[in-house]
Amino acid sequence: MAKKLGIYKCELCGNITEVFVAGGGDLACCGQNMKYMEEKTADHSTEKHVPFVEKTEKGYKVRVGENAAHPMTEEHYIMWIELIVDDLILRKELKPNDKPEAEFEVKHSDNVIAREYCNIHGHWKN
Ligand SMILES: [Fe+2]
Repeated sequence: MAKKLGIYKCELCGNITEVFVAGGGDLACCGQNMKYMEEKTADHSTEKHVPFVEKTEKGYKVRVGENAAHPMTEEHYIMWIELIVDDLILRKELKPNDKPEAEFEVKHSDNVIAREYCNIHGHWKN
C-alpha cells in the first residue's frame, strides 16, 4: 500500500514518483513493484545528506548538509530539495554543479520538514 508523500522508484527504468493521495494498491512500473525509498535520517552535524534548515527573513533556506556540502557532480548529486510547511509542499529541482541548497519564500511555521533526494544514496529528511 502506497504512503502519502512517499517516494517510489522503479529499479529497472529509473522512474521516480511521489504519492499525493494514497490508495490501497501497490505502485508498479516495468512489470514489477516500485521500491519505496525510505526517508533516512541522522545527525545533521556529521551526515552530509541530512537537510539543514535555517529561518530567513522571508522563509527558509535548506542546505545539504550543514558542515560539509554534498557533492554536485554528474555522477553524484542532489536531485531535489523539498520543504513541507503545514499543507504546502515546495520542491526545488537541482542539477549537477548547482549548489546543494534551496531558498523558499513561505510563511514561518512550527511544522516544517525538509527532505532531499541523492541520486546514489536515496531519500533523506531532517
Ligand atoms: Fe549522496
